[in-house]
Amino acid sequence: MTQQKAICHHEFGPPLEVLRLEDVKQAEPQVGEVRVRLLAATINPSDCGMIGGSYGRLRKLPAVAGREGVGVVEAIGRDVSSVAVGARVRFPEEGTWQETACMPAADVLLVPGDVPIEQAAFSFINPPTAYCLLKKIVDLAPGSWLVQNAGNSAVGLSVIQMAKAMGFKTISQVRREELIAPLKALGANHVVIEGSGWAKQVNDLTGGVPILLALNSIGGASASDQIKALGEGGTQVTFGGMVGDLVRFPTRFLIFNDVRLVGFWWDQWSQKAGPQGLNKVMTAVYAMMRDGTLKLPVEATYSFAEYEAAIKHDQQPRFGKVLLKP
Ligand SMILES: NC(=O)c1ccc[n+]([C@@H]2O[C@H](COP(=O)([O-])OP(=O)(O)OC[C@H]3O[C@@H](n4cnc5c(N)ncnc54)[C@H](OP(=O)(O)O)[C@@H]3O)[C@@H](O)[C@H]2O)c1
Repeated sequence: MTQQKAICHHEFGPPLEVLRLEDVKQAEPQVGEVRVRLLAATINPSDCGMIGGSYGRLRKLPAVAGREGVGVVEAIGRDVSSVAVGARVRFPEEGTWQETACMPAADVLLVPGDVPIEQAAFSFINPPTAYCLLKKIVDLAPGSWLVQNAGNSAVGLSVIQMAKAMGFKTISQVRREELIAPLKALGANHVVIEGSGWAKQVNDLTGGVPILLALNSIGGASASDQIKALGEGGTQVTFGGMVGDLVRFPTRFLIFNDVRLVGFWWDQWSQKAGPQGLNKVMTAVYAMMRDGTLKLPVEATYSFAEYEAAIKHDQQPRFGKVLLKP
């Protein structure tokens, strides 16, 4: 019986309290299945929610943590002809912080071999979310303005780069001055500091062109500022709640500016879109990763044995994702 390492939890709670590095049995691929070996996995805010028990979809305990990673097919079960050993694929989503896992060959999402492993590792959640936020909610004409908070997040950096390629203009809210230059270097039109009263100068920033789309992953005052900056009939999409505070809406903007408030959840969107819809979005994401339109920074890489340091690092101010490699 082959043993492998996995970062597991037996109860819901703060990651540093409930996670353990364990030796677990390596599974053999059954009929119609493949076994995938992890190359690199991401730490995302939603991992905290899943480990903590607050996310929209929770796992049966005990569970292996992590939901995003890239791997390589290393073994195939009987009756598998659609995938070959050596194919680069999305690691099975139900627990990416482990060395290997098995999955049905029919569910495999192939990753182009020429996308760098680090980029592929975080290609499955944040870039497609950014793509959908820009393309699937409001019909934006080239030259349109949008505003987003958490401009330095993986979603935010994807939005900046994709929006530039699509011909949209961006205002990105951040919490630290030192982020202004790197975001502008990636193509951000304006970068503003949270709490600086920037919404009052929004007409100066856009030359009087109304903002049609606001992307909110923070909540609280940051979300309210966006609504104040939105033009008449504009839409605010809430897809995250980093501040842990309620999203508060200034009533007068709902009434007098006819602002629309909607939500977005990639898990639900991709389920509803089915394999074809998912593939279309992923093809667009990989095309941008391959031609250099989209490149996300890596802040640091840790081994499984160093997972506690990785999680502590992830909770610090940073520029880029923290990756885990076995
Ligand atoms: N609904 C969906 O389908 C979906 C999909 C993907 C992501 N998301 C959400 O999108 C958000 C970004 O995810 P990500 O993986 O791109 O993030 P990330 O790269 O891990 O970056 C985290 C971001 O959150 C900011 N932040 C953290 N705590 C904050 C606070 N208390 N107040 C203000 N800003 C705070 C950080 O700013 P500093 O650098 O200043 O700390 C940073 O910009 C998360 O809320 C995530 O859950 C949702």
